[in-house]
Amino acid sequence: MKKKGFLFALFMSIVLVLAACGTSSEKTNSDGAGKKKLRVVTDAAYAPFEYMDKDKIIGFDVDVFTAAAKEAGYDFEIVNVGWDPVFAELENGTADVGLSAITINDDRLKSYDFSIPYFESTNKILAPEGTDIEKAADLVDKTVAVQAGTTGADAVDALLGNGNEKVKKFENNNLAILEMKNNGADAVVADNAVLETYAKNNPQDNFTVIEDKEGFESEFYGFMFPKGSEIVEDFSKGLNAILDNGKYAEIYKEWFGQDPDIENLKA
Ligand code: ARG
Repeated sequence: MKKKGFLFALFMSIVLVLAACGTSSEKTNSDGAGKKKLRVVTDAAYAPFEYMDKDKIIGFDVDVFTAAAKEAGYDFEIVNVGWDPVFAELENGTADVGLSAITINDDRLKSYDFSIPYFESTNKILAPEGTDIEKAADLVDKTVAVQAGTTGADAVDALLGNGNEKVKKFENNNLAILEMKNNGADAVVADNAVLETYAKNNPQDNFTVIEDKEGFESEFYGFMFPKGSEIVEDFSKGLNAILDNGKYAEIYKEWFGQDPDIENLKA
């Protein structure tokens, strides 16, 4: 009797140990190539680039990154952390990639590394129909809502002066638009495709998009990495591959309904 009980206990311990091994090996985040699962951080309030569809993060950036990561052989998980935390996480090394319609500029290049460009963009102005704003310079005596820490915020700071209280800064771009909807601002400055998507999807708001090619610079988005990251090259190669094999053009057409100017990105 005693012996049976001991054997049963022994058997159960073995079962428990095996079960524990099973779950722990599931937790080691590696694909076949032995690469670790990347933590990709984003601010998913920037349609059509990254936004929430129920509880899923979708968008042009998500599709381009997924295709490039597949080429490069990386497994990943995209997490919606918000705009400022994207930068903080890359700075302190808790994330591997920032994917957030992030413009490559000199200031950011001091602290981060970037892939080759994957999208050309420029800031534009969103304002109520009938506005007297025709160009960037007309914003000087207006109240302007922007997402803090973006190139749009920089452009408006340059026009209205740093610290001007008529520049209202928000944690994300949707909040900046909401401020204008609630009559708290005369205009929003942000990336063209984002404003155009908003105006198109929300005709009831009666907002119009104003372009100023001289007033706002041309910008390029890249995947952002911690400075010195060893995976930057792999992703640039992955991007190049999908630019060459037609996958990028396919994704672009799906989201923007037209063909991309690939030569312009590669120049
Ligand atoms: N392209 C602009 C920048 O890099 C705005 C990007 C904002 N992205 C976002 N997901 N909210 O500053």
